[in-house]
Amino acid sequence: MRFDVITLFPEMLRVLTDCGITRRAHEGGLWQLATWNPREFTSDAHRTVDDRPFGGGPGMVMLAEPLAQAVEAAQAAQRAAGVQRPRVLAFAASGLPLTDAKVRRWAGEGGGAVLVCGRYEGIDQRFLDEYVDEEVSIGDFVLSGGEVAALALIDAVVRHLPGALKEPSAADESFADGLLDAPQYTRPEVWRGRSVPEVLLSGHHAQIAAWRRRQALVRTAQRRPELLQTARASGRIGPAEESWLDAAAASGEVKK
Ligand code: ADE
Repeated sequence: MRFDVITLFPEMLRVLTDCGITRRAHEGGLWQLATWNPREFTSDAHRTVDDRPFGGGPGMVMLAEPLAQAVEAAQAAQRAAGVQRPRVLAFAASGLPLTDAKVRRWAGEGGGAVLVCGRYEGIDQRFLDEYVDEEVSIGDFVLSGGEVAALALIDAVVRHLPGALKEPSAADESFADGLLDAPQYTRPEVWRGRSVPEVLLSGHHAQIAAWRRRQALVRTAQRRPELLQTARASGRIGPAEESWLDAAAASGEVKK
């Protein structure tokens, strides 16, 4: 899979090719990265990439033309690499939420994507209308630019490319069933007076699986009740599991 990232700070993307799972997958040829700086596509002496917003207001807005030329160069590079129609995404706090379902779909489709990282107050809407398939947000908070969002998206997609992980990750599987992950423990068995839950030392696989499932349900109820509702609506929570949740609510472990 190929990613072309449009950014004023190409050095911010290097962590992906320099560190961890994404680095190994990059070295193994599972994905490729190129960056394009809109400043290289300006024609004035100051290499201007932004201007004040029409209608007034604070901050600056990214100019359409340097972004358009950078995206066209990226699209041409994708075509040369065999990707006919790469998806074009732009990052913004006002975008549609990035979800596990989208990440898995994009990883499954492979091919390529052009990722546009905004800075300042935003990007001229006419560029977005002309070139961008979807605006993406990674959460309800405001970043200084799209680069950190691009890192999150590429990292999340790459770990789903076949061969990227040495073994399947419990955290990924857990999200696929719509619940948060159960807690994990490793050695020592007692750390600063805190013991590992007995059942995990029992070697009893069925009991361990049941304990983890209950932990995942209770955690999801505590932290992300809306995810639990979605899991219920799609029939992924059985009657025995509903009784665990009722008991957890009765004991005050989960708020009703
Ligand atoms: N740019 C600024 N804030 C953002 C967010 N939350 N997600 C994606 N891109 C952004």
